[in-house]
Amino acid sequence: MLIRTETKNDYKQVFNLNFSAFKNRDDEAKLVESIRFSEGFIPALSLVAEEQGEIVGHVLFSKAKIIREDAETDVLVLAPVAVNPTVQQRGIGSNLIEEGLKRATNLGHGLVLLIGHPNYYPKFGFQSARQHGIELTQFKVPDDVFMVCELIEGELQQTIGELRYPSPFFK
Ligand SMILES: CC(C)(COP(=O)(O)OP(=O)(O)OC[C@H]1O[C@@H](n2cnc3c(N)ncnc32)[C@H](O)[C@@H]1OP(=O)(O)O)[C@@H](O)C(=O)NCCC(=O)NCCS
Repeated sequence: MLIRTETKNDYKQVFNLNFSAFKNRDDEAKLVESIRFSEGFIPALSLVAEEQGEIVGHVLFSKAKIIREDAETDVLVLAPVAVNPTVQQRGIGSNLIEEGLKRATNLGHGLVLLIGHPNYYPKFGFQSARQHGIELTQFKVPDDVFMVCELIEGELQQTIGELRYPSPFFK
């Protein structure tokens, strides 16, 4: 299995992959398209997993902000991540997330946030975000599904405020 940066030639396959991974709902497939057309898109952090020439997984990290009265912090949000249902439970999702976090660190990003399953993400270093003083009001979600991963040591300690997802997440 190869993990590599997504190219334009992959867009159609990535759409279909998100569609089938999210049980034939196109919300996430369309979210990916809408992020690609937004200023939060970071092409180097849209990764695909390829097996025998076929795209079997995809993860996208894009820009968001944590705001408070007197300051803003640039952060990343991880969404969505999808693996073809026929090849799930083989570590492809983990490989995509780990590679994405490594690349994000190398690009100098300090924090990644997400809304996701509390059993899946802690092994990559994600912890409850609200416990670290980061709020979320745009989506009403329980504390344990709103998570943050610190990529640069000390970043969490100096960041408090409210995560703001950008407009593509509300289309
Ligand atoms: C969530 C999702 C991306 C995970 O992808 P995946 O490739 O199945 O994930 P992994 O294989 O890395 O991990 C799944 C499980 O398989 C286990 N696993 C990892 N490698 C394995 C291997 N080589 N052999 C057996 N099991 C393995 C992991 O420990 C993990 O176990 P867990 O349930 O205790 O966490 C995938 O299930 C998916 O696309 N779901 C639908 C879309 C979705 O809900 N996305 C997340 C919300 S944005």
